[in-house]
Amino acid sequence: MSKDLIVVQGGNPIKGSVDIAGAKNSVLKLMAASILAPGKTTIKNVPIISDVTLMGEVLDNLGAKVKFGKRQVTIDTSTIDSVETPYELVARMRASIAVLGPLIGRFGRAHVAMPGGCQIGSRKLDMHIAGLESLGVVFEVEHGFIDASIPGGLKAATVILEFPSVGATENLMMAATKAKGKTIIENAAREPEIVDLANYLIKMGAKITGAGSPTIEIVGVKELKPVSSHTTVGDRIEAGTYLVAGVLGGGPLTVKGINPQNLEMALIKLKLMGASVEAGDESITVSRKGKIKPVDIQTLPHPGFPTDLQAQFMVLSALADGRSVISENVFENRFMFADEIARMGAEIRIDGHHAIIDGVKKLSGAPVKSPDLRGGAALVLAGLVADGETVISSIKHIDRGYEYFIEKLTKIGADIKRL
Ligand code: UD1
Repeated sequence: MSKDLIVVQGGNPIKGSVDIAGAKNSVLKLMAASILAPGKTTIKNVPIISDVTLMGEVLDNLGAKVKFGKRQVTIDTSTIDSVETPYELVARMRASIAVLGPLIGRFGRAHVAMPGGCQIGSRKLDMHIAGLESLGVVFEVEHGFIDASIPGGLKAATVILEFPSVGATENLMMAATKAKGKTIIENAAREPEIVDLANYLIKMGAKITGAGSPTIEIVGVKELKPVSSHTTVGDRIEAGTYLVAGVLGGGPLTVKGINPQNLEMALIKLKLMGASVEAGDESITVSRKGKIKPVDIQTLPHPGFPTDLQAQFMVLSALADGRSVISENVFENRFMFADEIARMGAEIRIDGHHAIIDGVKKLSGAPVKSPDLRGGAALVLAGLVADGETVISSIKHIDRGYEYFIEKLTKIGADIKRL
C-alpha cells in the first residue's frame, strides 16, 4: 500500500458532482464515544477510509465487537474488558487519544500510550490532561503510557481552555457526561464535529447544552444508553477539497451532502478568489470564468478558516494573479506542502508561520511526495491543472481521510490513476 503512487495528467476540465462522505473527524469521536454506554450502537454515513478502520482496531483491542457494513459501523461495547490502548495503535493515529475521556467516564480508568511526535507540529496533550485533572482525574505518565484514575470520583468543574482545542474539548465533554454536577467548558472548540458529537451524546442520555458556542455545559448523569442509530455530519474538509478542484478546473462542480454553513469562511475566500459560489440546502456549486485572484488567509479555530484546507487553498494562490499571504495559526510546521509544490514551479516563501505566495501562470507536473493527509490531497489538486504528468508518492496519508479519491476525481473529469 505505502509503495502505491497516484499519477495525474493535468489539463482536463473539472466539472460534475461529488457525493460527500461523513466527516472523518466526527466519526472517529463518535466511535470512541460509544464506549461510554455498554451495548450496541450503529453509526451511519461512515467514510471508507483507513483512519476509521484503525479506530475499529482500537475499539476491538479494548474488547468491543466492531462490525463494518455498507457505509456504517455497528459497535457492541458491552464486551469491553480492557482500558489499554497500546503505542502501536496510537502511533498510527493520534485521534486514538479520543478514547481517553470515554474510558474514564465509563470505567474510571484509562491506560493509553502517549502519542509520539507528529508531522504537523508538536500537538501536545497538556489541555486534555489539565482539563481532566480539574474533573478529579489523576494522571501518571510512565513507560510511555498515560495512566488515568479517579480515586475521589469524577466531579464537575469549570474548565477554561487556553486555546479552543478540538480534541481537548471532545475528551472533556465525553468524560464530563458522567461527572457529578455541572461542568462548564469555556473557550470550547466550536467545530461542526463537536456539535455532532454532542448530539450523539445527547441521544445517549447526556445533558449537554451550548455545543457549537464557546461555552458548553454538561450536567453529569449516572448512566448512558447506547444509541441505536446516528448519522455522521458531512465532511466539510472533503467538500472543501473538491470545491477547490472545481475552482481550479473551471467547474461547474457541485458537492452534495454538506451543510454550506459549516464551510462559510472557505466559501467567502473562494468568492474573493473569483469563483462563483451557489449554496443549496445540502449542496454547494462552484465555477470560475476569469483569473484566480490573490487572497490573504488566516487559519483559525472554527468558524475561522480551517487549517485542514490551508494546503488546498495554497494551490489556488499559487496560480493566482498576484501575491497572497497565508498565515497558519493553528499548527506549527504545517507548511511542508510548500516545498513539494515549489517543485512544480510554485513561488512560495515561508517566513515563520506566514507563507507568501506569488502566483505563477502554470504549474508543471513533477514527481512529488505527499507530506501529510491534506498536503497529499492538495498535491493531487495541483496535478489536475499542471502541465503534463504529476506522480505523487507516500499516498497512504491520503487514504487516511479521502474515500474513493481516484474514483470521485475520475467522475468529475480528472485523468488520474493509482499504480
Ligand atoms: C483536530 C482534527 C484536525 C484539525 C484540528 C484543528 C481530528 C481527528 N483532527 O485535531 O484534523 O486540523 O482539530 O482543527 O479531529 N494543543 C495543545 N495542547 C493540547 C491540545 C492541543 O497545545 O492539549 C495545540 C495543538 O498542538 C495545535 C492546536 O492546539 O497546535 C490545535 O489542536 P487541536 O484543536 O487539539 O487539534 P486536534 O484535536 O489534534
